[in-house]
Amino acid sequence: MIPVKTIEWIGGLDGVARLIDQTLLPNELRYLDVRDVETMWEAIKMLRVRGAPAIGIAAAMGMVLAVRDCAPTCRDDFCAAVDRAAAYLNSARPTAVNLSWATRRMQSLVVNHLALPIEDVKRLMLAEARTMVDEDNTVCQAIGRLGEPLICDGDSWLTHCNAGGLATAQWGTATAPIYMAHAAGKRVHVFADETRPLLQGARLTAWELQQVGVPVTVITDNMAAMVMAQRKVQGVIVGTDRVAANGDFANKIGTLGVAILAKEFGIPFYVAAPTSSIDMQLASGDSIPIEERRPEEVSEGFGRRTAPPGIRIYNPAFDVTPHRYVTAIITERGIVRPPFGEGLRALFERSPSSRW
Ligand code: MRU
Repeated sequence: MIPVKTIEWIGGLDGVARLIDQTLLPNELRYLDVRDVETMWEAIKMLRVRGAPAIGIAAAMGMVLAVRDCAPTCRDDFCAAVDRAAAYLNSARPTAVNLSWATRRMQSLVVNHLALPIEDVKRLMLAEARTMVDEDNTVCQAIGRLGEPLICDGDSWLTHCNAGGLATAQWGTATAPIYMAHAAGKRVHVFADETRPLLQGARLTAWELQQVGVPVTVITDNMAAMVMAQRKVQGVIVGTDRVAANGDFANKIGTLGVAILAKEFGIPFYVAAPTSSIDMQLASGDSIPIEERRPEEVSEGFGRRTAPPGIRIYNPAFDVTPHRYVTAIITERGIVRPPFGEGLRALFERSPSSRW
């Protein structure tokens, strides 16, 4: 796991949400203390905090920030403020289901404790947000334990974007099996796709693997086919922002191409997915909302113009990979293999804490 915490709450109800400002990495490791919900919304929107599980935690903390100072005269006013905060935070980014999963969980908590004094409900909200951090660590470690045996000594695995500690509280989903294999003494090397346009692979995955001492090589996205053709890759593992009930999944733009390549070259392709990222309400990936971001991220990334002024740009932040390209989905409750519809349903039926 990375030796720093991506996001945590410091202090009591009057404290701050402290997060790493990931827009500054790898040049600077700087923490941002967030004191109000508007700053949290901006941090999520601008990818200061990013990655599906981390933005879920950030949203839960944002809910606390939104209501901690409100002195409602009645419970209805308090509930309305909670609902407004949830809708506002949900509007920051549409694709990762963890965001609305977290805000809905906070709303349910409030509704279930309305008999208590409102100050107590606020304290419970903070405790819940902190619990989400602990749960995230437990979940990622379970994914790590289940995924670790898939990695052989001497393997090179490829990953796309950052589904690492920086995308969660500390361990990462896709990186957890790699961290555990490394800790177990296996020699494992990672190819990190650069991940255009915002370079989460080069800036973030490479940074955190380097912190832990896992050997890593950055390649530009268009080099993935070459390294696979050269038989340099034994496995691919990525994270996800949302898995549909049939196993289709959304992840950072470019993931679909990597999955198609892996199938062509006969390389196993794994999706690391906490159950909080599985949306059993959606029958297939066709209905996953895909965030579209500002054209400047493509034409003027990192302050330098790389396309002519006035040129038309298309900038979807995620793509959807059909389940036929997926070898297995590694969740904290078990590894699901095809047929995914049955396997995912069984996963939730087995657990009474199902969210659907
Ligand atoms: O736009 P980002 O950086 O938030 O995209 C992140 C990803 O696509 C991750 O792979 C995904 O959220 C899973 S994080 C465990």
